[in-house]
Amino acid sequence: MTTALSNLAGWFLGCLGLVTGHVALAVWVLNVCYGLPWPKPRLRRLRKLHLAWVLIGTPLLVVWFTLSWFGHDVPPGVGRALWLYTIGCWAVALVGFLPAQTARLLRRRPEWQRSNHTRVVDLERKLGVRPVARGPKWWFALLKGNQQFQVEFVQKEFALPALPAELDGVTILHVTDLHFSGVLTPRFYEAIFAELSHWPEPDIVALTGDYIDNEACYDWIPELLGQLRGRFAQFAVVGNHDNWFDVAGIKRRLQAAGFELARPEGRILELHGRRLLVAGTEWPWIGSLPAPVDAHRADFALLLSHGPDVAYEAARRGYHLTLCGHNHGGQVRLPVLGPVYMPSRYGRRFDMGLFRVGDMALFVNKGLGGEHPLRIGARPEVALITLRAASLECQPRQGVPRRWRQQHETTSLPQRKAKTCQASACRA
Ligand SMILES: [Fe+2]
Repeated sequence: MTTALSNLAGWFLGCLGLVTGHVALAVWVLNVCYGLPWPKPRLRRLRKLHLAWVLIGTPLLVVWFTLSWFGHDVPPGVGRALWLYTIGCWAVALVGFLPAQTARLLRRRPEWQRSNHTRVVDLERKLGVRPVARGPKWWFALLKGNQQFQVEFVQKEFALPALPAELDGVTILHVTDLHFSGVLTPRFYEAIFAELSHWPEPDIVALTGDYIDNEACYDWIPELLGQLRGRFAQFAVVGNHDNWFDVAGIKRRLQAAGFELARPEGRILELHGRRLLVAGTEWPWIGSLPAPVDAHRADFALLLSHGPDVAYEAARRGYHLTLCGHNHGGQVRLPVLGPVYMPSRYGRRFDMGLFRVGDMALFVNKGLGGEHPLRIGARPEVALITLRAASLECQPRQGVPRRWRQQHETTSLPQRKAKTCQASACRA
């Protein structure tokens, strides 16, 4: 009896490890390949292969393993190959998936994020109708429980050590991954942009790509994005989906909408007497990596990138903050497991939110749309980011009066500039 039970337990654990490793390997390969600058038809073929690998391969493997475990005959050559693959899957499950998943569950966000206020607006309720039209993959938008229309308006403050005190309070409106396909109608985007009027006018507007999924929507770029204005500048980069269409035409329309194309070499923006470098990269799909930051040329370096895979290189090249999109938070996130599919060579590492990469802050915005208009556990997002100079903050253990801090946070930017000397006194 005991032998039978332990045999059954061995089969169950073996099966669990085999299935976990098999699926994790299939997902990892797909995610990494989707992070490479491959053409769309090749990626589509890979996705079909991946589905076959998971949906057909998994039950076949379970049947083979069960027969083999309980002593049924299988052809010797096939059996040996499958045992080797099974051992590989167990290794992937134990050495790859399990530690990565544990690290993900224990992950802590960088202390640089000072506040995070989210307001969710249900656009379907607000408009009285789901803003959807017939088009490619439109049935996803009709699914019950789809959170595509519950948009998060997120206000975040990042206190960054490298930010000069004069730039404390600079705001950036970050919008990304709009994926105009015609399925989410212009009313969807107009309603979102109308909600932005509840926020103060941002200093800078940053768009980080993936505007087009249907060439019939090219003119939506000037019509819809032309509504977005910053007090000082508007910058944009394009994404991998744009690269599958007339990317030069998309860039022309972005310029017509009032956006400056952020370039790898960057452009200096003079703000409050300080030099803010704003660079952009569409790597690995188009162009080159961002140019290294010349500390003599810029007081603070902001990078706009479509994808977060540039993070380690950007940190090495001296950038202080990178804003990006691309991963959509995984679009569908499972309880405990989190996201599954993520088009990144780092897999699910940079799924959403704020990360610290060396001395650089990396913010990954979930974006507004997707080729598949489906969101579960990863609502669409538009973010207003306020930059704070960590040097102006006073640590409670240093005996800083709370009154000073309250006064400091409610004053305007010019007033705060004038108080920089007080901050120095406060730190001393
Ligand atoms: Fe995207």
